[in-house]
Amino acid sequence: MDVTTRIALIPGDGAGPEVMAEAEPLLDWARDRGRRLDVVRLPFGAEHFLATGETLPETAFAELRDGADAILFGAVGDPRVPDGRHAEAILLRLRRELDLVVNFRPCQPLPGTGTEGLHLEVFRENTEGAYCLQGSTEPGRAVDLAVHTEVAVRRLLEAAFTRAEERGCPLTLAHKANVLKHGHGLWMRVFQDLRGAFPQVPARGMHADALLCALVQDPAPFGVIAADNYLGDLISDLTAAFAGGMGTAPSLSWAPHRPFRCAALAEPVHGSAPDIAGKNLANPVGMILSTALLFRHLGWEPEARAVEQAVAAAMCDGAKTHDLGGSLGTAAMGWAIRERLP
Ligand code: NAD
Ligand code: IPM
Ligand code: MN
Repeated sequence: MDVTTRIALIPGDGAGPEVMAEAEPLLDWARDRGRRLDVVRLPFGAEHFLATGETLPETAFAELRDGADAILFGAVGDPRVPDGRHAEAILLRLRRELDLVVNFRPCQPLPGTGTEGLHLEVFRENTEGAYCLQGSTEPGRAVDLAVHTEVAVRRLLEAAFTRAEERGCPLTLAHKANVLKHGHGLWMRVFQDLRGAFPQVPARGMHADALLCALVQDPAPFGVIAADNYLGDLISDLTAAFAGGMGTAPSLSWAPHRPFRCAALAEPVHGSAPDIAGKNLANPVGMILSTALLFRHLGWEPEARAVEQAVAAAMCDGAKTHDLGGSLGTAAMGWAIRERLP
């Protein structure tokens, strides 16, 4: 049996390649510790699209689906592609067609960010809802549909309930079922159903608007928050703010039912940050912590923990990029973390 883990790297656009350059050495480090892994670097992103017209070619997609175990992703988005069509054809397609229903976005407690003791995790549905990309623009009228399926909603909520049960913490479902009667009505029915299956999890639904206010006022009582794709996108940028902002927030997406070989994608929550890209200003912590989440997903718990501890140790010693009021550049921050690895 082939026990080599194949990881595909897609650095993408803007700050994506800069933060990826600080995550890639962690793969070499894991290999040096005895993990068997192969790495393949893929060029897809705006530059490649503008030069070749290609977004994510079919052959590359099939190789990722059938030949890779996981994807490490930087970010996509480039002002030269204003309609973001390559982002849709690369990132949103991978999430959707690899069935990466669960997008896990933890707010990791980090020294010096005021999050010490906070343990908040967002479970975002990652493949459908308002991201079904169905709609139309007509004169004087525009339509964006949101499609929710029971299969995906159940998979996402089962993952969120399971995690809340494991942690012994409450679960809150963010919804707007008072308005979105059909789509969020479905979420409420599945949620109700699963409450029966997880009687020990204190679970409640909350209108997303009220939830956001309560979250800003006091995030401590929230353990796990589950949400659809659109609300989860918004909520996870807010929770990122608790742990230092966009530069530090990690995420991991996976397919709980694993129909494909490639069933995980790790990426920071942030985008390509065009305002700071190319200036050695991007914080690599979100990308590095995403790599740790991937290590954990692969069963490499000691490596995952070592990376998280190295980030915490570096920040505890005052290593910080500009977004956190420090003076380190992207590469220096990456090095400050790596030199604290065992
Ligand atoms: P963004 O996350 O790129 O940037 C928002 C703000 O956060 C900016 O001020 C930026 O400088 C800052 N920031 C982001 N990453 C940072 C980092 N690592 N270190 C320090 N500061 C950081 O969001 P945006 O400006 O709304 O979007 C820019 C582009 O990225 C758009 O094309 C958007 O569609 C795309 N995007 C992609 C992803 C992704 O690939 N997963 C996620 C979000 C946005
Ligand atoms: C994210 C991003 C993406 C999303 C964009 C780039 C399509 O904001 O990963 O959070 O909306 O999911
Ligand atoms: Mn987002």
